[in-house]
Amino acid sequence: MSLEGQINKERLPQHVAIIMDGNGRWAKEQGRFRVFGHTKGVDTVKEITEVAAKLGIKYLTLYAFSTENWSRPVHEVNALMDLLVRTIKKEMPTLMKNNIRLDAIGNLESLPDRCLKNLKAAKEKTSNNSGMTLVLALSYSAKWDICEAVKRIALDVQSGNVRPDEIDNNLITKYLSTHGIPEPELLIRTSGELRISNFLLWEIAYSELYFTDVLWPDFSKEELFKALIDYQKRERRFGKTSEQLTP
Ligand code: FPP
Repeated sequence: MSLEGQINKERLPQHVAIIMDGNGRWAKEQGRFRVFGHTKGVDTVKEITEVAAKLGIKYLTLYAFSTENWSRPVHEVNALMDLLVRTIKKEMPTLMKNNIRLDAIGNLESLPDRCLKNLKAAKEKTSNNSGMTLVLALSYSAKWDICEAVKRIALDVQSGNVRPDEIDNNLITKYLSTHGIPEPELLIRTSGELRISNFLLWEIAYSELYFTDVLWPDFSKEELFKALIDYQKRERRFGKTSEQLTP
């Protein structure tokens, strides 16, 4: 049976999050500059986004630029921002054709004006699409998001809108930039690194983690199918025993 045929469409994760890693190493293997790897990485973004939407996954979150990525060489940061702008513009028909809504999380105000402007326009244009939501994590880190949430909770406590004893899991979730997005059932990281790197720390408390040695530019739809098949073989217990899960 084909890899796709082995996926149970009734038991798909609602939300898949991906740490796209290995563009630089992929480029080095080809004897090219790092930016060439990012450009190839965009082709993978397009393929995986379209396949995920067609499969019926409801949310796909991609870690496109972390808070820590700002400390990369200026020319690489600029190239990534340019790629982002170009891709958003160029792939608008792909988003519309596949009924995909674009969303973004992170410190978006820190992005260059041209990025923010295009991002806002793309979000607006796709806002009525009802298929998959593609969430780009841009200038994002989970610790940044949690700090922002804590600051706003503190202000609401100070102004009397929140009582300290009301602060619980649900309340904190409401203050995060991922509010309204279900927690990812599956987190994928490419390139063989076994780390979370400040991505969705709060939201992945119960996510299944899938690591592959494949570098992001080589992560084809078959690789996504393998991750989904692996996910579907796992038993998600949420702290309970196996016996408690079967009625
Ligand atoms: C990690 O590879 C990848 C990134 C930091 C950026 C990912 C960005 C893209 C795929 C392109 C832009 C995205 C969109 C959504 C248009 P790395 O550079 O850390 O690779 P390395 O670990 O091999 O050096």
